[in-house]
Amino acid sequence: MNLECSTQTILIIDDEDIVRSSFCDSLEDFGYKVVGADNGNTGLALLESLQPDLILTDLRMPKMGGIEFLKHSVSAYPHIPVIVISGAGSMGDVVDALHLGAFDYITKPVTNMNLLEASVARALEQVRLKRENNSYQLHLQQLVEQRTTLLSQSNQELELHKNNLEILIDERTQELHLTIDNLHQAQEQLIESAKMASLGRLVAGVSHELNTPLGICLTFISSLGDKISKFDRAFHRGELRKQDFVKFLQSAKYSSEIVISHLTQASDLVHNFKMVSVDISSDMERNFNLVEYINSIVESLKPELRNASVVIKYGRKDDFNVYSYPGFFSQIISNLIMNSKNHGFTGKKAGCINIELTLSSENLTIEYQDNGVGMTQEVLDQIYEPFFSTSRSAGGSGLGMNILYNLVVGNLKGSVHCSSELEVGTSFTIKLPRLDPRL
Ligand SMILES: Nc1ncnc2c1ncn2[C@@H]1O[C@H](COP(=O)(O)OP(=O)(O)O)[C@@H](O)[C@H]1O
Ligand SMILES: [Mg+2]
Repeated sequence: MNLECSTQTILIIDDEDIVRSSFCDSLEDFGYKVVGADNGNTGLALLESLQPDLILTDLRMPKMGGIEFLKHSVSAYPHIPVIVISGAGSMGDVVDALHLGAFDYITKPVTNMNLLEASVARALEQVRLKRENNSYQLHLQQLVEQRTTLLSQSNQELELHKNNLEILIDERTQELHLTIDNLHQAQEQLIESAKMASLGRLVAGVSHELNTPLGICLTFISSLGDKISKFDRAFHRGELRKQDFVKFLQSAKYSSEIVISHLTQASDLVHNFKMVSVDISSDMERNFNLVEYINSIVESLKPELRNASVVIKYGRKDDFNVYSYPGFFSQIISNLIMNSKNHGFTGKKAGCINIELTLSSENLTIEYQDNGVGMTQEVLDQIYEPFFSTSRSAGGSGLGMNILYNLVVGNLKGSVHCSSELEVGTSFTIKLPRLDPRL
């Protein structure tokens, strides 16, 4: 006996008592719980109250026939399989019943109850499979829903992360912009202070250079003062001789010549200083002679270059009358010279700097050379980087070469090339285009 059968209920509707009870008996023997009804009406009532697992129904019955019962049953309980039992002469009804949704049919008389049971078992098995399939589908649907919910949650979280990230990136970008602005400001300040430093050097140089002519003037003027007093006294005493008068005149003339020449020298220096200092601080264009200008820069740096000599070579001085930015040249040359002094000549007793100026139809070339300690390739590769300095501890700002590069390449549209050999020296070749008729 099938164990599952004992829990399954079969409703049998047939108006022939013998048929109905023989079906009941046999199916009960097979282990099913069986309920009988003798027409469609009673069958419907039992169907509603019992909701059996399977229905066997005859087609031709009084009150309500099998076809009508089937219509009700299929529309109200489509999941309960119905097997129709038909007499041999009603195959037309069987076809209708199958169209309406009957699961199977059995023809009367049923001689082999095993065939009946097989049909019943098949129908119940199919119901079971269908139910399993449904619940499996339901389970799958739930799973899909769960996954969809999880996915949309993850999507929301991702969206949130994305937004947070965007906000973070915006914040960082703003911070970065601020830092860059600050850096630019700091760089501008440093460039300004580099200018001020070269002005400072200029002031030191000029005051040093003024000392000599002013000292000489002072000596001559005070000695002339003594002579005038003597002259005055002799005159009032009536002791003035003709030769004393002539001597005094000679001496006064000589003194005034000396004083005039040295005061002119001092005035030229002050004039030069005024020009160079204005050039450094204002970046103005004007006519000037490059040879004289470089000379005055070198002069202004002399006090700093005690152990070094600077030689300037050029062709015809008048060829170098230019209309350009003297302040740029002042910064370029003084940065080169100060670097030779600060880096090249450290530990050296004497240093030599050569500056050679050449003009072609296209270029003005400045070749600058020192015989200092030189630099390694690693240093050479970085000299134009802003803030790169090998002597930061000694106060190097690391801006000198960067300023030079910007002035040569950016402002004057030229090029600069540096080569260096350790213990031999460093040289710079600066080429400035003469396309601009002013140069
Ligand atoms: N003539 C030179 N001889 C040797 N090293 C030099 C010379 N000129 C520049 N350098 C190197 O290039 C670096 C960068 O120069 P610069 O930008 O002027 O910065 P700073 O002089 O403040 O160190 C120097 O620190 C130095 O190492
Ligand atoms: Mg420097």
